[in-house]
Amino acid sequence: MLYTADKKSIKKHEVPEWFHDAKLGIFIHWGLFSVPAFAVTGLDLVESMKKGFETHFKNNPYAEWYLNSLRIPDSPTQKYHFKNYGEDFTYDDFVPIFNEKIKKWNPKEWASLFKKAGAKYVVLVTKHHDGFLLWPSKYPNPKKENYCSNRDIVGELSKEVRKKGLKMGFYYSGTLDWSFNPEPIKDGRSFTENGVRTPEYVEYANNHWRELIDKYESIILWNDIGYPPTNVCEIFSYFYNKFPEGVINDRWRQIRKKGDNFPLVTRGDFLTPEYETFNKTRKKKWETSRGIGNSYGYNKIETEEDYLTSEKLIHMFIDIVSKNGNLLLNVGPMADGTIPEIQKKCLLGLGKWLDVNGEAIFGTRPWIRAEGKTLNDIEVRFTQAKDLLYLLLLGRPKSKTITVQSLNLEKKATIQLLGLKGSLEWKQEGNNLSVIIPKNLPESPAHTFKISPKPNMNLNQ
Ligand code: GLC
Repeated sequence: MLYTADKKSIKKHEVPEWFHDAKLGIFIHWGLFSVPAFAVTGLDLVESMKKGFETHFKNNPYAEWYLNSLRIPDSPTQKYHFKNYGEDFTYDDFVPIFNEKIKKWNPKEWASLFKKAGAKYVVLVTKHHDGFLLWPSKYPNPKKENYCSNRDIVGELSKEVRKKGLKMGFYYSGTLDWSFNPEPIKDGRSFTENGVRTPEYVEYANNHWRELIDKYESIILWNDIGYPPTNVCEIFSYFYNKFPEGVINDRWRQIRKKGDNFPLVTRGDFLTPEYETFNKTRKKKWETSRGIGNSYGYNKIETEEDYLTSEKLIHMFIDIVSKNGNLLLNVGPMADGTIPEIQKKCLLGLGKWLDVNGEAIFGTRPWIRAEGKTLNDIEVRFTQAKDLLYLLLLGRPKSKTITVQSLNLEKKATIQLLGLKGSLEWKQEGNNLSVIIPKNLPESPAHTFKISPKPNMNLNQ
């Protein structure tokens, strides 16, 4: 099928099976902001936004927003910066420091870690809102000389990631670019008005996306916040024609002003909630992203308390998968490329769990119901694959049997616990399913019961 640069044609693209199957991606926020690695701690995005835009932007929990926070008078970041670097030290003075530090970076180690964590794809930030490029582009920044990394981070990482059999995609900050616009975002209004709209910038951003597609063969176009005035369907059709198996996210919102007549495309292949999940199964594919702590960019002020534990992460992940979502889990490396221990621990904990329980996650689809409960209130989630139903128990059973509410199995069904040999004894108690828990139940944040065959739909609506 040939895609053309119009909305109707773009809409025909279907989410490829690999993206449904993949479930877990790794997001990477790394750049100049990783040098100071500072942001206010204590609240995640959702809680911070509840304080109102002004307070939020002044106390932004995102370390990758360092430059913006620095531009806000009297913000904690500005105070921190003046105290630690001095008033004359500019954000751009981080360039030589970053470029020196990244000499130590080992992309192979990253790729092995992501593989061990169980991830199937990687999305690297290639240009965040600060405008600093992580590759030696043919289209350099016209406002600031050498405003890019002196290693080809995009190219080097892509190579290693693909060697491990993972797919590679890129994030690009479409409308916000603070190397073009020196105004800070302080409130709701300056947020909507901060995007760059000049023809020079439109061409610059378009060229970058083309370069990321052509030279680096991005399989995911992960644009952020919005896009400057142009027909984005040209990028989309170009991309889909080259990679029909590619996917595009939903953050291409554009502002049409008088005289503009490009088509507005709001929904891509998948939705992208941030630090949030949906509480019901969505028909439309979605992918939520978040840091392991409250920031995407590394924030050295954060402590263990600010980070997710492996257990919380695993429960959240299962919940997401049961509702048709993927998780794009972010790592925020230090300036020299070291992935902080707490983050590593969390990724490896997830990987270890997936080694045993991965078949209930990868390649599965949501079942007719995502949620359930046991009689003593342990949360349950469901996924399905072919003729199987997976029941995931989000907690350790408190007794010798668990009774799952409203679940009717076929008489001939067998139940197996992933990680243990043999099948479990079970019985139907009215509409509830009662399963005997084996004595040698291993320690695990969540247990998977594999039910074969999948129960009859009509009995379980
Ligand atoms: C946002 C933020 C940002 C982060 C991103 C990830 O919109 O501005 O810092 O990169 O989303 O989802």
